[in-house]
Amino acid sequence: MSNSQQKPLNIVAVSGGLNNPSKTEALVQAILDELGEATPINVHFIKFSEIGQLMGGAIYRNQLPQRVQDDLAAVEAADALIVGTPVYRASFTGLFKHFFDFVEQTALVDVPVLLAASGGSERHALVLEHQLRPLFSFFQAQTLPIGVYATDKDFTPEYTIHSELLRDRITLAVARALPILEWAPAKGIRAEVVKEKTQLANQSLGINKQIEQAEVLPSAAVPSLDAAESRLHQKTTQKITKKTQVA
Ligand SMILES: Cc1cc2nc3c(=O)[nH]c(=O)nc-3n(C[C@H](O)[C@H](O)[C@H](O)COP(=O)(O)O)c2cc1C
Repeated sequence: MSNSQQKPLNIVAVSGGLNNPSKTEALVQAILDELGEATPINVHFIKFSEIGQLMGGAIYRNQLPQRVQDDLAAVEAADALIVGTPVYRASFTGLFKHFFDFVEQTALVDVPVLLAASGGSERHALVLEHQLRPLFSFFQAQTLPIGVYATDKDFTPEYTIHSELLRDRITLAVARALPILEWAPAKGIRAEVVKEKTQLANQSLGINKQIEQAEVLPSAAVPSLDAAESRLHQKTTQKITKKTQVA
């Protein structure tokens, strides 16, 4: 199927960057741009630089402004998420966690999540593995194998990305994500089934037992890696050709 015939993926991006401008936001945008080049997407971009100050005082979801409640609903209905946070004290920010504390705990079951973070130091790159991945594992989301970590040095003073290495990492992360994202729209169907089963489970079974049942999470046929590989290799080939021309 050609790109133009594909149903667009419903991507929800979350940037936990509180500043404006924000490096985290620029990083998440760059990932969105790369993904949008590869496959048709609809984007709902949640920026904490806009909603951060609206969230702090709420303890219950219905105390949040409608805008944030709508953002949470978008997260819960997404085919896939791209999430980014600045590193604060070696972890995601408190508000990033606060936002996800409001997300319904079965809504992200099996949802692909691309993890990203921006920190001042390279030494905190494992925040992706030790902080973000466990949080989304709690949700039983499918965290994508390759995350993207940037440091302040990767950005120009205008907050655009100038690091080639970071650009390559984004390309790789998206290329590796594509085969998994191909079946992401099935999540809509799964979400319905999970919802129904959750209601049943609440009456009798525990939720963990319930979601292990085969009919709730049928194994998906993972499509071939060829498309993703060729995209990645095409870029590499282009670069090599460019370098050869310069030489
Ligand atoms: C309160 C605070 C704590 C921070 N803690 C860390 C940290 O532990 N490790 C790190 O690498 N950077 C840390 N930083 C730097 C930010 O993560 C970094 O500058 C990030 O790129 C900012 O992203 P933004 O432009 O989206 O706000 C901290 C910054 C602030 C304001």
